[in-house]
Amino acid sequence: MDLPPRGELFDFHGVSMTHYFTDNWENVQNFQARPDDILIATYPKAGTTWVSYILDLLYFGQTAPERQTSIPIYERVPFLELATAHFDFGTELANNLPTSPRLIKTHLPVQFVPKSFWEQNCRMVYVARNPKDNMVSYFYFDHMTLIEPEPGDWNNYFQRFIDGKMVFGSWYDHVNGWWKKKQTYSKLHYMFYEDLIENTGREIDKLCCFLGLSPSAEEKKQILACVQFDSMKNNNMTNYSTVPSMDFKQSSFMRKGKVGDWKKHFTVAQNEEFDEDYKKKMKDPTLQFRTEI
Ligand code: PPS
Repeated sequence: MDLPPRGELFDFHGVSMTHYFTDNWENVQNFQARPDDILIATYPKAGTTWVSYILDLLYFGQTAPERQTSIPIYERVPFLELATAHFDFGTELANNLPTSPRLIKTHLPVQFVPKSFWEQNCRMVYVARNPKDNMVSYFYFDHMTLIEPEPGDWNNYFQRFIDGKMVFGSWYDHVNGWWKKKQTYSKLHYMFYEDLIENTGREIDKLCCFLGLSPSAEEKKQILACVQFDSMKNNNMTNYSTVPSMDFKQSSFMRKGKVGDWKKHFTVAQNEEFDEDYKKKMKDPTLQFRTEI
């Protein structure tokens, strides 16, 4: 299959984007959400697939176990704004989902979320990850994902991340925008990748509380086993190995799955520069990230 060329960044209403996520904009903005839809929102590489899979198992693991072995996660949980020729568009996939609830993934900053999700008072789960690991994960992803802009070398990428010149814009704006929304929109559950790593079971309990679910102890045990990093890495339905636009010779989608891998990439000088800039940008003391656990 011929692959489309790498996307080029451009300014889209103040956010860096590529056309692969704006070409279907009218359909995205006019998407008709249903009251029981659940939106899984993240800045790219923050743990979207992990939480998508947890939710899919919680809702459908018992009732439709065949889904787990026959439908890749990106079809079970469509990526709303994705518009590439070698896939069905995200809006189409979402409209054709036979499930109830529908689980829908987005990387949109909060101000771009289609208005029907708010009007329908949908539940939303936001996952955030500390920016240093997030940056490293995104760097490798951009190498392997052939529709992403050319990542260039690490030093250049580091600067671009700080400047917010990434697909879906600035990490700082993204995590802060969604955090602020949480103060006024009660159906938003804000999670952290580091908490999931620290204690996946505890975070699943919190999720269940938010969703009004009460899985049995046995079911929870099964889910915990399925969503371990190694299980997901070895599972063709969750490791993205079936996606033609990813070059697994460059990197893996399920790459490291750790907190603190940034230490192998940031130089001492870069770390100091990063921390200095971080302090200026992250003014809200109620939003705290852990770069190690
Ligand atoms: S995407 O492309 O935005 O949807 O990517 P996303 O799923 O948000 O993020 C991918 C990173 O999440 C890690 N991951 C996990 N870590 C620990 N445990 C589990 N089960 C797990 N599943 C996914 C994945 O390895 C990517 O992080 P890095 O640091 O690159 O390994």
